[in-house]
Amino acid sequence: MKRVFTYVAGALMLTACTTGTQKAPYELIAADAFDTTLNGRSVQLYTLVNKQGMAAQITNYGARLVSLWVPAADGSFKDVVWGYETIADYLDAGTDVYSGPVVGRYGNRINKGQFTLDGKSYQLTINDGENHLHGGSGGFWSKVWQGGVVTNADSSQSVVLTYESPDGEEGYPGNLTITVMYTLTNDNQLVLNYEATTDAPTVINPTSHSYFNLHGTTAQSTNSHILQINADSFTPTDAGLIPTGEIAPVEGTPLDFRQPTAIGERIEADFEPMKLAKGYDHNWVLNKANGQFGEAAVVYEPATGIVMTVSTDQPGMQFYSGNFMDGKDVGKRGDLHSFRTGVAFETQNFPDAPNHPEFPNPVLRPGETYTQTCVYAFSTK
Ligand code: GLA
Repeated sequence: MKRVFTYVAGALMLTACTTGTQKAPYELIAADAFDTTLNGRSVQLYTLVNKQGMAAQITNYGARLVSLWVPAADGSFKDVVWGYETIADYLDAGTDVYSGPVVGRYGNRINKGQFTLDGKSYQLTINDGENHLHGGSGGFWSKVWQGGVVTNADSSQSVVLTYESPDGEEGYPGNLTITVMYTLTNDNQLVLNYEATTDAPTVINPTSHSYFNLHGTTAQSTNSHILQINADSFTPTDAGLIPTGEIAPVEGTPLDFRQPTAIGERIEADFEPMKLAKGYDHNWVLNKANGQFGEAAVVYEPATGIVMTVSTDQPGMQFYSGNFMDGKDVGKRGDLHSFRTGVAFETQNFPDAPNHPEFPNPVLRPGETYTQTCVYAFSTK
C-alpha cells in the first residue's frame, strides 16, 4: 500500500474542523506509487482537484483514469472508477487490462482485424477470438504517453497527454499523433478532448474505457444503477460481437433504456443479442447527428444519490455491463473486479465501421484533424 498522503478539500475542512477532528474526505494515491520507467519512458500519476473537492487521478500509462472522487448526496466522497493503487498492479492486471485507459487506435472491434482503405488491405493484430479489439495487444492503452498538467484561464486544470503511434503499429497505416486532454471543471465535469492527425490515410476511433461504479465500491453490484440511454436503435452483432450492419430498433427489447430503468431489471432476459454478449455489451445508435454534441446517457445510483451524465459528439456509445469479470483482480482498497460490478460507457464510432460503408466514416486523412469530446458530469439527487 503506497498511499502516503491525504488530501483535505478546503471547503470540507471547515465542516470537519467543527467536529474537532480533521477527518479527510478521501485518500489519494501518492505519485510515487507510479514512479517507474517503461520502455525508456517515465510513468507519472497526475492529480487534479477542483474547487468543490472533486478529484481525478490520471496516469500517462495508457492515458488512464485511476481515481475519480465525486460527492455523494450525504456529503461524503466516493471513488467511482475501477483502478489499481500502483503501476505494478496495472502491469499485472489479469482479466481486464482495460480499466480506465484510452483505447485505440480503433476502440471496439474490427472483424478479423482486416479492412481495406483506398484499395489497400490491412491486417491488424488479433486479440479477441478471431477479431481485433481496442487497438490490439499493444494498443494505446499499453503505451506511455507524454504530457503534464496545465492550468486553464478559468482556474480549472487539465492533464494533456500525447502519443505518437508509428506507421504499422498493430498493423495500422500512417504515423498518427494523438492528444487527449482530461479537464476537471469546477462544476464537477470530467471533460475528455481528443485530437489526432496522420501522415497517411488511416482509421481512428479512440475511446475512454473506465469502469464506473456509483456505489464507490465493487462490494455492490452496478445492477442497481438506474440507466437512461438516448437511443432508439442499436447495432446487432454476430457471436463475436461484430456488427451485422443492421440498425435495429430498441423498442420492445431489453436494450430499450429510453425510460430510466435499473440495469439489472432485464439483464438476464431471453433475448438473443443479450445472450451473445452475456448481458449488455452493445453499441447504441445515439439520437443525434454525428458530430453534434449532446447527452448520451444518464446513470443514477439511489443508494449514494450520485448522478452521472455522459455527453458526446460521437454517433454511438458501447454500454458494457462487466459480463466477463471474474473477481480475480484486486483493485483499489481491496475492491474485487467482479462480475457486473463495473459499467463502461464508451462514446465512439460504431464497431467495425472500417468494414461498413453505411456506418459513419472512420477514416482520417493527412491534412485533417480528428476531434472528439466526451463529458462525464456529476451531480446528486
Ligand atoms: C469492451 C467490449 C467488451 C469487453 C471490454 C473489455 O467494452 O465491448 O466486450 O471486451 O471492452 O473487457
